[in-house]
Amino acid sequence: MKKSKIVVIGTGAVGSTTAYTLLLRNRMDELVLIDANHNKAAGDALDMNHGMAFLGQADVWAGSYADCAGADIIIITAGAAQKPGESRTDLLKRNVAIFDSIIEQVLPYNKDAILLIASNPVDIMSYMAYRKAGLPVERVIGSGTLLDSGRFRYLIGQKLNIDPRSVHAHIVGEHGDSELPLWSLANVAGSELQLTDAEREEVFSNTRDAAYQIIEAKGATYYAIALALDRICTAILSDEGAVLNVSTLLNDYHGVSDVYLGVPCVIDRSGVRKIMDITISEEEKVLFHKSADKIKGLIATLQL
Ligand code: LAC
Repeated sequence: MKKSKIVVIGTGAVGSTTAYTLLLRNRMDELVLIDANHNKAAGDALDMNHGMAFLGQADVWAGSYADCAGADIIIITAGAAQKPGESRTDLLKRNVAIFDSIIEQVLPYNKDAILLIASNPVDIMSYMAYRKAGLPVERVIGSGTLLDSGRFRYLIGQKLNIDPRSVHAHIVGEHGDSELPLWSLANVAGSELQLTDAEREEVFSNTRDAAYQIIEAKGATYYAIALALDRICTAILSDEGAVLNVSTLLNDYHGVSDVYLGVPCVIDRSGVRKIMDITISEEEKVLFHKSADKIKGLIATLQL
């Protein structure tokens, strides 16, 4: 049976935590860590390998871009991360150059993998990766608003004293300040959420601003994004057909085209099998267009 192989490019807080999460949950047979600082990647690999006696078998090593060959999924987390008070789109200029070189170095070794982008601003970086890599759109996926939807479901669950896994609620649009909640679709067992307007506002603003709060407290976010990336990898490798709010290219989706945004997608071994056709309210559609216009405006500043 073919061995499953995942490559993580960028072993900063997000990349190394994602790699460790994938290892703990036994997602692959081979895990390759790549970083501009090879020593860091090598140290992470050594540290993980020393845990194998407690974990079970997986081949983990710090590699070069040549090790992308044969990978099923290549996760890209490299790039500058937000500093306290910095927005994700503030990172754009610094990360475009880094990203350009990463895509160029991956392609000679692997044109069959699924590219899973986590570097921020993730919608723009995913769009850029798609345009640069020339791979089928279904195989260039951004982590999108999956993490935001997880935060949203957790905070709603806290209010209702319900397990977040039983809360069905979506954040769509930019993974960032212009994201929006689809309250019109949110439910528990099909029933409308018993939340006041004030509670809804509190839950959504805490969702949208969560990263700022965490970065202020501890300098970076990495646990929940690692779990979100693990969730996407599992849906791919297990050919699940799971509906996850990842970032993908839109084509006349509620009137929005030619931009990557977080929307509910069916994820399986092919990557994004399709985007779910959902009904949203007029108010939500206006906010969705505002989010799209913001991201398209920033994409227009790039020479793609
Ligand atoms: C966050 C980062 C991953 O929202 O953008 O935590």
